[in-house]
Amino acid sequence: MENPAMKTFKMVRGMRDFLPEEAEMLRLIEDKARRIAQLYGYKEIITPVVESYELLAAKTGEEVRARMYAFKDLGGRKVALRPEFTASVARLVATTMRNEPKPLRLLCIGSLYRYDEPQKGRFREFWQSNFELIGSEKPEADAEIILLTNSLMKSVGLKNYAFKIGHVGVLRGILSREGLAEDAQNRALQLMDKKQYEDALSLVKDAGASEKCLTLLQKMVKVRGSNISKVLNEMKKLVEKYKEAYEAVNNLAEILELVSEAQKLDITVDAGFARGLEYYTGIIFEVYVPELDIALAGGGRYDRLVELFGGEPTPAVGVAHGIDRIMLALQEQKAPLKFQGEKTVMVIPVSEALNQEALRISEILRGEGIPVEVEVMGRKVAKALEDANRRGTPYVVIVGERELSEGAVTLRNMEKKEQSTVKIEELAKAIRTGPH
Ligand code: HAM
Repeated sequence: MENPAMKTFKMVRGMRDFLPEEAEMLRLIEDKARRIAQLYGYKEIITPVVESYELLAAKTGEEVRARMYAFKDLGGRKVALRPEFTASVARLVATTMRNEPKPLRLLCIGSLYRYDEPQKGRFREFWQSNFELIGSEKPEADAEIILLTNSLMKSVGLKNYAFKIGHVGVLRGILSREGLAEDAQNRALQLMDKKQYEDALSLVKDAGASEKCLTLLQKMVKVRGSNISKVLNEMKKLVEKYKEAYEAVNNLAEILELVSEAQKLDITVDAGFARGLEYYTGIIFEVYVPELDIALAGGGRYDRLVELFGGEPTPAVGVAHGIDRIMLALQEQKAPLKFQGEKTVMVIPVSEALNQEALRISEILRGEGIPVEVEVMGRKVAKALEDANRRGTPYVVIVGERELSEGAVTLRNMEKKEQSTVKIEELAKAIRTGPH
């Protein structure tokens, strides 16, 4: 009979293990995101991984909705694993945090779940740092979200990243004027998000849009470029007769002016740009690097979501940075983040009788903030030193009878292959100020 204990298990498709080096890199990027949050005044909140299906499904758009890990819990509630943070933040702002003074600047960091087709940079469990700025309808707020995204990309060491920016108000402004219901608009924008412009146009046509509008849309989806004022002028000319769309272009222009006065960014404005999520009402943007054809970050303005969840009408804008995609981009650009090398120490007793002393000295060093790995394999000094060498441990403390009788140990600088006798009370200082 098969012994169930002998069975080996594989990972579930779309999931990954992060081994120490990758885990360290993921956490380092999280640390950078937390630092950016501090610099821009964002406070971290922690929301649950499991939320009600209804909340998450409300405005995420067909694409994400169809890919949710949704199930009934044992109490019969329909729940899902969060595919993004924005719905949870909007829920909080509509309920528990409804009386908080505005603006509210909130940060979420954690794992998200989407049943996407696994491929390079696309996983079913992934990580985001998500920033939301709630309570302001002003272009300064949109500009801040773009600027902090730039700061994060810069601080992790990315090179050659670029922003793609558009405004859903432009296309929606045109489609609303043509009498298209929100549902048909959503479907058309979903198709545009996937760059299926022909299908989008035929959907718009079937929904009753005029020939004039179709010609306009055909022209519109081709308007893009990095000469910002030229692109904006072309857009303005095209939508002259569509008041809401015209105002949307103006709003985009205001935001871009604020951004470019504050920082020099690589920006492409794309008039036919759409994003899969349905809650956007204003500017939308994504960040790309030339080495990958997937976005490293995505965001935009969503002025009606909080209200939809029963809160006060509350304008909001935000962004989510794909932490694992940033990791991938750094690897592709051969610009890996480096941990600020801490001086670690290995403590080795020369005999079993000194194990207790080795532990005591290790605790003293840790108390001084020095990371210590203590020998726990019962190896002889030579073997343990070999191991320290293999791991690249810069310092080794050898605990021996003779030195100990004088309240001292041997401190060995592994790189220089030099050693000296150091009093225990001076050990931490000697390690910190080394080499000696
Ligand atoms: P999103 O564009 O769906 O926006 O996701 C943001 C980022 O998460 C993407 O640019 C990508 O880097 C990463 N991401 C998404 N799906 C995957 C995946 N399957 N594997 C790896 N990384 C992935 C949002 O989530 C919005 N909530 C952003 C937002 C915040 N808008 C306003 N506030």
